[in-house]
Order: sequence, then C-alpha cells, then structure tokens
Amino acid sequence: MFDLIPLIKAIGYLGIFIIVFAESGLFIGFFLPGDSLIFTAGFLASQGFLNIWDLIFLIFIAAVIGDNFGYAFGKKVGPMIFKREDSFLFHKDNLNKAKMFYEKYGGKAIILARFMPGIRTFAPILAGVGKMQYSKFLSFNIIGGALWGIGLPLLGYYLGNVIPNIDRYIVFIVLLIIFISVSPMIWHVVKDKATRDRILNTLLNALHTKATKYAGKLVVFNWKMNPETLESAIDMARKSDHKNIVVAPPFVFIEEIGKIIKTAKLGAQDLFYKNTNGGSFTGEISASELVNLGVKYAIIGHSERRAMGESDEIISKKIKTALDNGLIPILCVGESKKESGSMNNELSVSSKEFVRDQLEKDLFLIRNSSFSIHNSLIVAYEPIWAIGTGNNCSPEVALEMIKFIKSLSGSLAPALAKSEVGVPTAERVGIVGCRLLVLYGGSVNSKNISDFLKYKEIDGVLVGGASLDPKLFF
Ligand code: 13P
Repeated sequence: MFDLIPLIKAIGYLGIFIIVFAESGLFIGFFLPGDSLIFTAGFLASQGFLNIWDLIFLIFIAAVIGDNFGYAFGKKVGPMIFKREDSFLFHKDNLNKAKMFYEKYGGKAIILARFMPGIRTFAPILAGVGKMQYSKFLSFNIIGGALWGIGLPLLGYYLGNVIPNIDRYIVFIVLLIIFISVSPMIWHVVKDKATRDRILNTLLNALHTKATKYAGKLVVFNWKMNPETLESAIDMARKSDHKNIVVAPPFVFIEEIGKIIKTAKLGAQDLFYKNTNGGSFTGEISASELVNLGVKYAIIGHSERRAMGESDEIISKKIKTALDNGLIPILCVGESKKESGSMNNELSVSSKEFVRDQLEKDLFLIRNSSFSIHNSLIVAYEPIWAIGTGNNCSPEVALEMIKFIKSLSGSLAPALAKSEVGVPTAERVGIVGCRLLVLYGGSVNSKNISDFLKYKEIDGVLVGGASLDPKLFF
C-alpha cells in the first residue's frame, strides 16, 4: 500500500486500466487496492507523472467495462457461483455481503458499491445473477463509474495541487481513504451481533479445519435427553465438532457445548412458543435466550413432543417465533405406521396426505410471511415407525417423500419456493437465497447415512440414537 507511488509509476496507464477493470468485474479482483490506487494516480498526475485527463478517461472506461463484464458473467453463470467452494481468491462471504447490500439498496447498490472494497467486485456480478434490467444497470454503472473513477483521481489531483508538499502526507491520506471506504462495513460489523458472530465463526473455522465429510449436506445430531453428565456431553461435542454438523444437546448443556464447538453449529431441541423476552412461564426457554447462547437451529414439532400433547397450533407458533428471532426451525413431520397403511418400501397416498396435512397446519402462521435473506426453514421427514426402531425408511421412499414435500412448498408458503439464487444447498443454510431444506430422520446411523445423502434432493439427515457415538460418523 505504501508502495503505491512506485507501483503506479511502474505499471503505467495500462496497469491502472487492468487493475481497475479486474477490481470492477472479475471476482478474483476483490483484493486489489482500488480507491487508494486511483487517488494516488490522481496525485501523481498533479506532480506531472501522468496526464490527468487521460487518466480519468481511462479509469472511467475501465470501471464501466469492468462492471459490465461482471454483469455479463453473473448473467451467464447465474446461481452456479453460489455453489463455488471458498478459495484464496474467491470468498463466498464477500458475495453474500454484496447480496445483502444489493437487497437493501436495490439498483443504487451499483453506485454505492463502487466505494466499498470487496463489495465493489461482487455487486455487478450479482446484478447479472439477479438479471437486473440491463438499461437500469448500465445507467447506475455509468453514474457510479463516473463518481468513483473520475471523482477520486480528481480529488487526488486537486489536493496534489493545493496542498504544498503533499507527498509528505500522501500515506496518511491514502490510509484515510481506505478507512473511510471500509468504515461502513466496520460499522455494520460492530453494530450487528449476527455479523460479528459470523465473522468470528469464519475465522475460527479457518483455524480449525477438519475434514468436511458431509460437504453440501446438513447432519443434525439430536441427543434427545442424553447424556447424563456434562462431562460426557463435552466429550460427545468434541467428537461431533465438524463442518456441516448441528449438535442439539439438552437445554442444560447448551451453554457449555456452545463454548466447546468451533466448527459445528448449535441447535436446541425445542423452544417456547411465544415470542417474548422473559415472563411468568415456569420451565420454558425463550427463543431469545437461545439466540443469546449462540443457538442457530431449533428442532420443532418432534414426534416425541407431539406424543406428549404438543398441537399443530402450538408448533405453528413455535415456527413463527423461531423465524422472528433469526433461528432456523427444523420442523419434524411424519406419519405413524397406522397412518402409513403400507410397508416401508413403498410410499402410500395416506402417508403423503398425512404429511401434507401436518405441514399445512404447522406452517399456517408463516404462510404469508416473507423470508428475510437470513431465514431458512428446514423440514425433517421422520416417519414415526422408523424412529428408534433400527428399521429405517428405505432411502428411495424417503427420497420420494422429500420430493413431495419440496413440491408442496410453494402452496404452503409462497416465499419458501422463492429461491432467487439457485438451488438451496446445506452450506448456504441460513444464508442468502436459501429457503427450504428437507432432511430425513429415523434410524439413521453411520452405516446407512450415505444411502440417504447420495441423493441430491435429500439435503441432510436428523440423527437420534446413533449421534450419541459420534466418532463413528467421521
Ligand atoms: P433415531 O435416529 O434414534 O431413530 O431418532 C431419530 C430422531 O428422532 C431424530 O430426531
């Protein structure tokens, strides 16, 4: 950064053009020093090293063409880029930040993003992915390109002319520009606990990379009322602490388990149905209490709770409360042997009817909700006859039911079906564009898990008994 002056002298107009182009529209260019580079180039023009008019023309053109390229790229590759794995040059996190920014500011994001490192690179790509009207995109692109690509070098040029011996302060000015351009992001991070946690988690994950055996899927460990002691719970948590795993311990262990796991995510087995902070509700645990402990997922409507009298009406309230608090509900549905009316190697009409009925009732209160970009819903198909029996549903039948559930999503809650950016994958759960995942649960163990996960429509599994011996899964 401090070597920008010799760098610019060395790379000349062509180098500046390439950097601005890459930073504007090639997703590999997000780390390039855009703002400070073009400001310093303007300053160098004031000292006679470059011609200011050539410079601003060139930067403006590179910025506009770069954004255009990004737009075309986004339009062509579309949702595929959301499935890319992180790499040195590509960070999904930046992509997601740009998406949030875009959802917040609409077309204006193209202009504002010019001034935000990282986001700048992804905004035009996302405009393409989202198929923004081209004429609209182009106008925002030109305005943004002019404000940024002409404004910043002119500022450097102007200051270079009016401040005597500016070269003594140039480093500080460049630092100030960098600070100003990243400050909205810093402010966002400081202000928002969820963002802070996400960044912290990403950092921790980076330090703690374990094998990602279940990449692209979600494996939820429901410990039910186990184990007996905190010591055993900690041991199980350590062994379960892998990517794509959600650990749902009994409430009494949640806080401690939250401190142990670094890579896995924390889930709760239930929550209080009302959306309230505190109150006279003996024995209950509120959604906000869970969120404050770092819980991200909540199992709701498990058949073992339904058997104790939990009604669809209460379940529907729990789903809404979970979503309203930023928790991702894992709604359990599934028929008993009686309703299934068939053996487990074929899916009966009555099973489908039963599950459809449950879903209609359980999602009733969120029917007309819009899902924020952070919200997702997970449904777990857990046929009661397969739970704890060692008699799992055949993967093909589970697949058929899961496809059926997915096909219903639009009529159950239209927002669920609206997945603007491609097919949901478990890795994006709770992140942008992901609305509905469907898992299978019921006598899943380390031996049969891959029989379910091999189907792309089965987004993951909910494991009970077998999760108490987690090392078998890794
Ligand atoms: P089992 O894996 O013990 O059959 O339990 C499934 C279950 O209920 C998970 O929620």
